Formats: sequence, structure tokens, C-alpha cells
Amino acid sequence: MSCAPGEPCEEGVKRRRALIVLGIMGALFIALSAASFLDSRNQVVPATVSYAGYDAIEGKRVFQAWNCMGCHTIVGNGAYFGPDLTKLYGKVGPAWMEAFLPSAGAWPTSGAVQLQLQNAAVAAEAGVDSIDAYLAKYPAAAERITRRGAHATLMPNLPLSREEIGHLIAFLKYTSSMNTEGWPPKPRVDGLAFAQAAPTSASPQPAPIAAQSAEPASEAARGAAVARDTGCTACHASSTQRLVGPGWGGLYGTEVALADGSKAPADDAYLTESIVAPDAKIVAGFAPHMMPAYGTMLDEGEIAAIVAYIRSLGGEHP
Ligand code: HEC
Ligand code: HEC
Repeated sequence: MSCAPGEPCEEGVKRRRALIVLGIMGALFIALSAASFLDSRNQVVPATVSYAGYDAIEGKRVFQAWNCMGCHTIVGNGAYFGPDLTKLYGKVGPAWMEAFLPSAGAWPTSGAVQLQLQNAAVAAEAGVDSIDAYLAKYPAAAERITRRGAHATLMPNLPLSREEIGHLIAFLKYTSSMNTEGWPPKPRVDGLAFAQAAPTSASPQPAPIAAQSAEPASEAARGAAVARDTGCTACHASSTQRLVGPGWGGLYGTEVALADGSKAPADDAYLTESIVAPDAKIVAGFAPHMMPAYGTMLDEGEIAAIVAYIRSLGGEHP
């Protein structure tokens, strides 16, 4: 810009104005940059969230390592094959998640959730220690158990370790306590009223044990009901098929090859021990600490009934 002869020269004024605006912009830039380092307003940060001694930041790493986002959305990101997980922890609670994640191929039953509540750390996180209080506090867990408990899911069984499960739940606890300003949006249709959301009759719900007739068909039939109700069938098939654990079909009376190279006869004593103290003998090809111990949850009669059921599934009858 130049000042033509005979016209008022404004060059100095304009330059000053430009410098003042530039100065204001610069100050704003510096102030906003500094503000971005301050703690966010009332927003939780993962470093402050832990679950039963597990860490939310580590949980985020586990979540990424297993590529859960390849199927699930979380905080607005991810894929739509599985349901959104952002707010799930607050709805179903920790014990339901503890029951679901180790054997995600089947929906947990109330027995499986009750078992998790026996862990003091889980009960403390849940804030209740009885299954009835739990289901009252977390209606979404109750809804999942009554509608889908013991049915197969569309999610694969992932071989998650105990540590990974703890960290994952810590991470989901963190996302659940975030202020997401209403995300995820609520669907406009009521999903549960939708006809196809009803459980199919092809795979009927197991009748609760108490509701069965006073004279059970047989010890084995009662054992089958207990096994389903307790959640054993999430990990064990009644055929020879391998799920998380070995199949029960044809097991009774055979020689079971154990991880330490020895063998054990699959008799009543062995099966009882496998239920009460699963880590006493590990079946070859399986990892220890996968199966929970049921000694405190099932009484002797129930364990005997399950053993009778496994006996009825074939194998050599001695
Ligand atoms: C191959 C796809 C896939 C992957 C990978 C996957 N999921 Fe899933 N998940 C699903 C599907 C599908 C469902 C819904 C199952 C159904 O409705 O039968 C589901 C359900 C769930 C549920 C229960 C949701 C509810 O509302 O009840 C949780 C919790 C969950 N997944 C956590 C995880 C976590 C954590 C990971 C990573 C370690 C993971 N998922 C990886 C497909 C997947
Ligand atoms: C989370 C998965 C899981 C659940 C739930 C589970 N188990 Fe297991 N079970 C396993 C695994 C894995 C093994 C093999 C490793 C071992 O020997 O401990 C196993 C082994 C067994 C064996 C020995 C099988 C053989 O081939 O020698 C019996 C019997 C058994 N479980 C019974 C039960 C009963 C009864 C229940 C329910 C009250 C149950 N399990 C619940 C995972 C599970």
C-alpha cells in the first residue's frame, strides 16, 4: 500500500489496527492452549477410575488389543455389529460383566451372576452382596437373565485372562461414568416390544429349579436343570464338543488325560472334585483357573445330581 499524492494517508493507522488484532488473536491462542492443559470441567479422567484394583487406562489398552471396537461402538466410535458399550457398566453392574466376559458365547444365568457376588471385591463394587438386591439394583442385568440367560450369544468366546477381564471392566466403568451429553441416543422403537426380540421357542428357557414338580423325573434330569441354571452350560456341552471347557458327552467312566501327563478315571469322585476344586486336576489341553470353584455355591445334593446327569450322558458304565 502506498499513499498517493494529494490523498489523506491512512497507512500508519491501518498497520496499527492490524497489529492490535494480531496481538488479540495471539493472546487468545496462548490462553486457550494453556486452558487445554487444565483438568476438564467435572469430567472423569481414566487415571482416577479403578475397579477392584484394576486400572481403567490399562483396560483401554486391552480393549484396543482385542479390537472390541471392530464389533462394538463406544463413546461414539466403532462398528455396529455388537451393541454400544459406553453406558453398559452402570446398567448391568460388575457381577453381570464378570459372569459374561469369560464365556461371552452364552448369556449368564442368575446362578452365574450370584457366583461372582461371592467375590468380596465384586460385591463391594456392586454395593450389594445378595443376588436379589443385585437384580433390583441393576434391572438391565435382571432383564438379560430372564430373557436370554443360558441362550447362545452372537459374540465369540474370547480367551481373555483374569487380569484382562478386570482391566476391561475398569475401562467400561470409566466410560459409563463419563458425561456423554446423552450419547448413545435412545432408539425410538421399544426394542423389547418388537415381536422378533422375543425368545424363540426353538431353544426354550430352562425352568427354574424351584418351579419343577415335587417329584423330579430323575436325579439326572434334576442335575441337567441345576447345570443349566448355574451356568455350567456356558462352558460345557452335553456332547463331546469343546466349548470353553471339555464336553461332557461320553466322559463318564473313561480315562481322562491330565495336563501333568497322568490319567484319572472319570468316576463320581473325580467329577465331584472337578466341580468343587477344579484346579486340583487340569484336563490336558486346557488352562488352569478357567473354571470357578462351586463348592460354596452348590450343596452336596446338587453336585450329586450334576454327577448323575454327566453319568447319564454316556461313556462306559462301570
Ligand atoms: C466379532 C465381533 C465381536 C467382538 C470382537 C467383540 N464382541 Fe462383544 N458382542 C458382540 C455381539 C454381536 C454382541 C451381542 C450378542 C447377542 O446379542 O447375541 C456382543 C455383546 C457384548 C456384551 C454384552 C452387551 C449387552 O448389552 O448385553 C459385552 C459386555 C461385550 N460384548 C463386550 C465385548 C468386549 C469387552 C470385547 C473385546 C474384548 C468384545 N465384546 C468383542 C460381538 C463382538
Ligand atoms: C468359565 C467356564 C466354565 C464354567 C462356567 C464351568 N466350567 Fe467346568 N471346566 C472348565 C474348564 C476350562 C475345564 C478344563 C480345565 C480343568 O480341568 O479345570 C473344566 C473342567 C470340568 C470338568 C472335568 C471335565 C473332564 O473332561 O474331565 C467337570 C466335571 C466340570 N468342569 C464340571 C463343571 C460344572 C458342573 C460346572 C457348573 C457347576 C462347570 N464345570 C462350570 C470351564 C468351566
